[in-house]
Amino acid sequence: METFNISTPNCPNVFYRKAGKGNPVVLLHGFPENGDLWSRVIPGLAEMFTVIVPDLCGAGQSSLPEGATTMEALAEAVAAVLQHESIDHTVVAGHSMGGYTALAFAEKYPEQLKGLSLVHSTATADTEEKKQIRRKSIELIRKGGKEPFVKGMIPNLFAEQFKEQHQEVIARQIERGMELSSDSMIAFYNAMINRPDRTSILSEATFPVQWIIGKEDSVVPLQSALRQSCLGNTDFVSLYNEVGHMSMLEQPETLLNDLRGFIAYCYNH
Ligand code: MLT
Repeated sequence: METFNISTPNCPNVFYRKAGKGNPVVLLHGFPENGDLWSRVIPGLAEMFTVIVPDLCGAGQSSLPEGATTMEALAEAVAAVLQHESIDHTVVAGHSMGGYTALAFAEKYPEQLKGLSLVHSTATADTEEKKQIRRKSIELIRKGGKEPFVKGMIPNLFAEQFKEQHQEVIARQIERGMELSSDSMIAFYNAMINRPDRTSILSEATFPVQWIIGKEDSVVPLQSALRQSCLGNTDFVSLYNEVGHMSMLEQPETLLNDLRGFIAYCYNH
């Protein structure tokens, strides 16, 4: 795997990984993660495709820009990576907040998209209740409460049985979450609070859309994901039993197979 750092007008340093060869796919991580989140599916995808995995600006090795973080700004950095790679068409797969970024990319650059995979994500905006919960978390983080915040949120991302049987995975994710600075956490949470509803991107999509849904996801309600999955023309829906919000850790082989099938479809139709 190769790694690169580029500079964009918005983000002084955008770090990304690149592996494999063939048609491209971009993998966007969620919160509070970085691109390493995808490490269990990258090798399998790289056997068939060129896999590009950035750290979103403010996460991992990419710097947090000075101005306000928005999904649009995060998407611009992804566009800059593609430009740097001279890629003008790609499939984008976004996990949760990475999906919100992918939707912002789809809105601005629909002609570049060969397909969009929403992995435990949603095109709806936050509800008022969700915004309130995020504001409370921002307050806690501001007061130095990053650790209780991360320790409180991470276990809830996993299905019950997985959580009981894989405490070491949860502990590793908590460690990884703690690596994100408080400033970045607050910036990402504000970006999520302010993101608009993008369900129209799905109903008007001219590219195939894939939905990866965990039946035990506590972040994206099952019924909402299922309703949205009916909006597009060429939708692929995978519903995983005994999976929460983190199939790339909970059932990586299943996710890999579904991503491979979807990406191949996008390039063959
Ligand atoms: C994520 O996994 O990116 C977050 O859970 C998204 C969110 O809080 O909406």
